[in-house]
Amino acid sequence: MRHFINLKDISVTDLRKILKDAKKRKSLRKNLDNLDIDKGAPLKGKLLIQMFEKSSLRTRLSFYLAIKQLGGSTLTLRPDELHLSKGAESIEDTAKILSNFGNAFMLRTDKDIKLEEFKKYLSIPIINGLSPSSHPTQILSDIFTIEEIKKKSISKLNIAWIGDSNNVLNSLIAASIKFSFKLKIGSPKKYQPNKNILKYIKNNKNKILIYDNAKKAASAADVIFSDKVISMNDKVNKNKKLNFFKKFKINKKLMSFAKKNCIFLHCLPRGSEVDEEVFLSKQSKVWHQAINRVHVQKSILLYCLGKLR
Ligand code: CP
Ligand code: NVA
Repeated sequence: MRHFINLKDISVTDLRKILKDAKKRKSLRKNLDNLDIDKGAPLKGKLLIQMFEKSSLRTRLSFYLAIKQLGGSTLTLRPDELHLSKGAESIEDTAKILSNFGNAFMLRTDKDIKLEEFKKYLSIPIINGLSPSSHPTQILSDIFTIEEIKKKSISKLNIAWIGDSNNVLNSLIAASIKFSFKLKIGSPKKYQPNKNILKYIKNNKNKILIYDNAKKAASAADVIFSDKVISMNDKVNKNKKLNFFKKFKINKKLMSFAKKNCIFLHCLPRGSEVDEEVFLSKQSKVWHQAINRVHVQKSILLYCLGKLR
């Protein structure tokens, strides 16, 4: 049994195994419908319990299809319907019940510490479906998408992130260390990665270039990522923050500094950080990116349950 909480805690060998399995499984499903089950139904009889403390569309749907396609089933809990959220039951007791009824627990949470608390008391794997500090299933899936489209290892590509320093970027930074790819970040000074992240980058002898300039970050990029300037539960003065990002908007002009065949990725949902023209252009692979989450999450579930071939 293995947890999937942060990319930095998982070996690159295991991350590569997950990506390889996802590629194989995806190719074997070409003629299958969404709810058709993979040959061998490797998670037959298994139940994934999901809980979302924050909104979700893609993560919810993709985990639903992922476990179904592996022959198992899913149950989504509403936190407001649990005793836990009212302070009437502990994480410890909740975790013990989850472990007796289910085989894996996927949590999207508003506090990182809850992942660690649940992990302490669960005897089933826990998967981080987004926390304030990371979004590991998203980024592993995005690496899959990039390598699928570019048909080469991500270590040979220039990746750019233009936007806020948030949970998705933190996982991208961890991935750049794990998979050794070049990463350039473009964000206003006030919103660049914090001291702890900078220390983590330095301790891992990684070269991540950070600019207070979107053009510099975009220059010669093979992939440009962005995300909402205002994340869920971001307790800021929204208009003030959005103002800081005016010069960081992904538009056609900015894309012209990147390589000609540069692709645009965004985990979604989107805000005003990207122009409609780029978002709907051929360079934008956002729909392809979203559907790939099903394929990678299947292999994450197999990894967690010790069933990765
Ligand atoms: N990208 C992503 O995680 O989307 P949801 O918030 O809709 O799950
Ligand atoms: N950074 C965004 C990602 C949403 C999938 C947020 O946390 O709201």
